[in-house]
Amino acid sequence: MTKTPLKNLAIIMDGNGRWAAQRGLARTKGHEQGAEIIRDVTRYCAKHPEIETVTFYAFSTENWKRPKLEVDFLMRLLDRYLQKELATYQENNVKFLAIGDMKAFSSKLQERIRKTEEATRHNTDLTHILALNYGGRAEITHAVNSLIAVGKEEVTEADISAALQTPYSDIDLLIRTSGEERVSNFLLWQLSYAEFYFTQTLWPDFTVEELDDIVTDFQNRNRRFGGLS
Ligand code: IPE
Ligand code: IPE
Ligand code: MG
Repeated sequence: MTKTPLKNLAIIMDGNGRWAAQRGLARTKGHEQGAEIIRDVTRYCAKHPEIETVTFYAFSTENWKRPKLEVDFLMRLLDRYLQKELATYQENNVKFLAIGDMKAFSSKLQERIRKTEEATRHNTDLTHILALNYGGRAEITHAVNSLIAVGKEEVTEADISAALQTPYSDIDLLIRTSGEERVSNFLLWQLSYAEFYFTQTLWPDFTVEELDDIVTDFQNRNRRFGGLS
């Protein structure tokens, strides 16, 4: 049997806080450890012959509801992460892209994001996307408004797909860690026909070995898209 092709992977990295609580640590320690895992997963995806994009949910439009101290920590962590990971992107021929509404971030962080995108834009083995202040509904609403702004009176599915922030319109596989089984406003349009994989593993405990097993599981699935196999 031929393997089901995997081009676009999305990951809801969940469980950082619970990982820290299990160890009697502050939630911030869970976020720090979680950031380390992103690097391993990125390397795996860059080397994988089929995967073209991997999109990580890093901060949702709903995450502003968290205590200011945690939000501020996540912003600083992101800045540090991008500073440190530029080398990983370059060494692995990875293009970095951010999606979401970055206007809410400090000008320093916005500049760091812009510079990382600029420095990696010619890399071709993988596009690594971070969803930052991202919400699926906000993205679709923004896409429709941008079409209205250019004079469209009626839109097609193809118009909306093209106006989204993601370079793809379909996710093949969505993984969510930590045992929660919901979408939490991630990539609503793009998940239309995605395969889902939920694992109990907390994000800071996630490994490329588990990812490889999940990819194998996916490759053996039969995607029918409403037709017959
Ligand atoms: C995911 O881990 C990271 C972010 C949402 C930023 P959580 O912080 O949601 O961890 P739990 O769900 O509280 O364990
Ligand atoms: C989803 O995780 C958002 C990110 C991973 C960035 P949350 O922990 O914020 O989602 P809920 O609250 O469980 O839906
Ligand atoms: Mg969570």
